[in-house]
Amino acid sequence: MLNPLTAKAAARVGRTRRKGRTHLPPGPGAPGALQLLSFLYEPVAFLRSVRASHGEVVTIELPGMWPLVQMSKPEHVEAILKGGARELHAGEANQLLEPFLGSYSVLVLDDDAHLEQRRLLLPPFRGERMKAYGEAMRDATSSALERVATHTVTVTQSVTQQITLDVILQTVFGIDADADDELVRLLVGTLRALDDPSLLVRHFQRDLGPLSPWGRFLRRRARVRELLEQMIRRRRGQSNEGRVDVLAALLQATHSDGTPMSDEEIRDELMTMLVAGHETTATALSWALYRIALHEDVRSRLLAEIDEAFPDGVVDPDRILELEYLTAVAKETLRIHPIVPGIGRVLKEPRRVAGWELPAETVIGCSILLAHFDPAIWPEPRRFDPERFIGQRISPYRYFPFGGGIRRCIGEAFALYEMRVVLATLLTRRVPQLVAGQRYTTKRRNLTLSPSGGMPLTFGTRSARVAA
Ligand code: HEM
Repeated sequence: MLNPLTAKAAARVGRTRRKGRTHLPPGPGAPGALQLLSFLYEPVAFLRSVRASHGEVVTIELPGMWPLVQMSKPEHVEAILKGGARELHAGEANQLLEPFLGSYSVLVLDDDAHLEQRRLLLPPFRGERMKAYGEAMRDATSSALERVATHTVTVTQSVTQQITLDVILQTVFGIDADADDELVRLLVGTLRALDDPSLLVRHFQRDLGPLSPWGRFLRRRARVRELLEQMIRRRRGQSNEGRVDVLAALLQATHSDGTPMSDEEIRDELMTMLVAGHETTATALSWALYRIALHEDVRSRLLAEIDEAFPDGVVDPDRILELEYLTAVAKETLRIHPIVPGIGRVLKEPRRVAGWELPAETVIGCSILLAHFDPAIWPEPRRFDPERFIGQRISPYRYFPFGGGIRRCIGEAFALYEMRVVLATLLTRRVPQLVAGQRYTTKRRNLTLSPSGGMPLTFGTRSARVAA
């Protein structure tokens, strides 16, 4: 949702301005650089203050980026998410990710090319396929727990990241995260490059040699691409019979004209799933553990449900969907801590939105963060209350942590399933506890809203159960 201003768009916006008719709603007038810093480093406070001072529909103008018309009311979100794929481009709004994911990535494409990639990617992410991944999710959690000392302060995010990395490498790439090979190390390095929000700003993307941040990134990316293509070619030469990983499905998938996906297409989609699915799910897990540690009533009810479902302490992933309260805890976590703060769409023709006549090339942002905290929709929005999700059908325009419409997250079922399997497995052996005196706040970590300091928690043993 951060969008570099292209020459074409700049010309268009400029023309509109020169005619003296600013078609865009008003927004904050603070100096651009100051706004950019707040947007990158204090995103939650920034978005809330902009809405408090300028109302529901507001234009945010950051240097080097498109003006962003932001909204969050359900009727406006619905109009955007239901809009046609040709009239509203999400790929264009995600262009900033192109250097990290590659030009074939489903996230950066639009129109027919996007629909085609999406059709190829969806089958391995259907709900029923999740069961095949459940054991990998449970086992990755068990082995990560072996490395977590009890009653010592633990940076939770590094544990959850290890689990979700392990899971994605096994279930999507079909490789073992423990293999100390160059590919795994470089993939992790590429992900870490995204930790620095400044690298997402075009202005800083300058190759000033191998020691400069962008130069180092480009060299690492070239090697990662080479190794991924080698791996894909190797897998093409092997039988994929009986393999359930996503790569096996992509190797067998065919375009509408019957041709297989190219090595480059598969390479970019693997990177997309790694970037889109690893950190997001790890962060969601860290926030869930924080909430479980913070709210004693939630914790007791959750532990009781898990103990009743798995009395021997061994989680059966096939039964995880039966755990209603666990599901509600996962969903309420994603309401109160939306991992991705908002989604973007570029208008490809003039359109009336939220009472404004917006010109083509306007970027519209639907703020997940603001929608999830709207007191008109969520009474006492700052209260963590999983009950909100029990026996309720929630409108996809009021609650949309995975975006929506034709661009809705492909990994939604995967992420929710993984959250539940990991939390249940962890809670059969450990109980998360807050660290006394620790301040828990939110900061931007690449494209996600993450806990500051990596969420320091301690993990006690479950006294009444088998200690790990
Ligand atoms: C808690 C975890 C996750 C969250 C919060 C999340 C959130 C999102 C959001 C907000 C979008 C943009 C949707 C839009 O523009 O309307 C998205 C797109 C996407 N996500 Fe996720 N995601 C998560 C996990 C995953 C996982 C596990 C995968 C795959 C392994 C994945 C793959 C994708 C892909 C491929 C897209 C692009 C879809 C398209 O453009 O058609 N995500 N996700």
